[in-house]
Amino acid sequence: MPELDAVLSKIDSNLDQSIENLFALLRIKSISTDPGYKSDCRKAAEWLAADLQSIGFDATVRDTGGHPMVVGHHQGDGPHVLFYGHYDVQPVDPIELWETDPFEPGLVDMGGGRKVIAARGACDDKGQLMTFVEACRAYKAVLGTLPCRVTILFEGEEETGSPSLKPFLEANAGELKADFALVCDTNMWDRQTPAISAGLRGLTEEEIIVKAANRDLHSGYYGGVAANPIHILAKALADLHDADGSITIPGFYDGVEETPPDVLATWDGLGRTAQSVLGEIGLSVPSGEKGRSVLELTWARPTAEVNGIHGGYTGTGFKTVIPAQASAKVSFRLVHSQDPEKIRAGFRAFVKERIPGDCSVEFINHGGSPAIQLPYDSPLLQTARKALNDEWPKPAVMIAMGGSIPIVGDFQSLLGMDSLLAGFGLADDRIHSPNEKYELSSFHKGQRSWARILAAISQQ
Ligand code: BES
Ligand code: MN
Repeated sequence: MPELDAVLSKIDSNLDQSIENLFALLRIKSISTDPGYKSDCRKAAEWLAADLQSIGFDATVRDTGGHPMVVGHHQGDGPHVLFYGHYDVQPVDPIELWETDPFEPGLVDMGGGRKVIAARGACDDKGQLMTFVEACRAYKAVLGTLPCRVTILFEGEEETGSPSLKPFLEANAGELKADFALVCDTNMWDRQTPAISAGLRGLTEEEIIVKAANRDLHSGYYGGVAANPIHILAKALADLHDADGSITIPGFYDGVEETPPDVLATWDGLGRTAQSVLGEIGLSVPSGEKGRSVLELTWARPTAEVNGIHGGYTGTGFKTVIPAQASAKVSFRLVHSQDPEKIRAGFRAFVKERIPGDCSVEFINHGGSPAIQLPYDSPLLQTARKALNDEWPKPAVMIAMGGSIPIVGDFQSLLGMDSLLAGFGLADDRIHSPNEKYELSSFHKGQRSWARILAAISQQ
């Protein structure tokens, strides 16, 4: 296809400029969870809307109860696709572990021809979403149009569970409904092998606060008689797992299916082992349920994780105190048809049973989303797979992801749209951690991949 070849060449010749564009977006400190960065989030939305306008999209910044959305429309023949990405990023702490300024992006030479873009959001998700925008820019430059009708939706609250998204989708369903969604927020299999994710885990997020005495106490004066909320909390959290790593909340595994043996065999064939996964992060002994492979544990099994815990005196020196309260943030990764709200209710009942009569517990709902499973043989996935095979040294593999992208479930339930989850992140991109990076090859070949996928979709 000569037209596609011209678009791919344009992407190649425009690479330096596309890096500059991405750097401009990466300099904006759009940390969604911290109210101190509210105006930066709006700045990122405005930057994106202006950039989309510059390539012929009818794009606007749309207010919500939280951070704004960006919606852009571009006419075209053929199928109508909705591309989704998020411009918000995770906080940067612990800042002292960053080797470069998280909001001063740079290109770091790793030797052997390998270069990476280092910054917060370089991968998750600014670098990824710009691969699609750059593919559109190249199409417009070469052909003056896009190969299909494209709507773009960028949100700024993904990292905080997308609280405004559902109401926004409901209120704007007619405008946003397309034939299917394209989502660029997932990983490749390895540096040479692209991947399509057919599964994502769901999530239930819950904060719990255990309260005991009506004030902090002297642990000598009261110790041995007054309840210590840290002990109560720690015991309830420790009780969540049995000795085999299974989760003990009654009914927790309702809706969890065993993965078919042929799927497990395909996953085993990918050659990822406990040693290879854990070795990279300085560990060697798998935690979690016994007798299952690392891929099954992260792709097809649910988890309970304590993400944070707080109570008592943690400052310098020492203070002999029995605190009045202790708190924790707990999340559950869900699979198959596990219901996020049933899991929440089960967890609350489980904790309440472990609270002494004179103490109390409060819960704060931090959101939830169901797991996603797409059919491996859908025409959309197969079309995208062929397009990816043309771009990368090795053929695309169909995988699942342990992470969660709540909107994918909403696209399905509210707009009746399937999603294609194709992204170019790598396991060692350190998303959410210090020194986040995106491979330059991911950024470059990601743009080329979207150009190919759009061309393939237009011919479907
Ligand atoms: N991009 C990630 C999801 C992801 C993680 C995909 C790892 C592929 C590999 C996304 O931005 C994310 O981190 N989501 C949160 C959702 C939560 C905050 C509601 C997650 O999975 O923790
Ligand atoms: Mn993301």
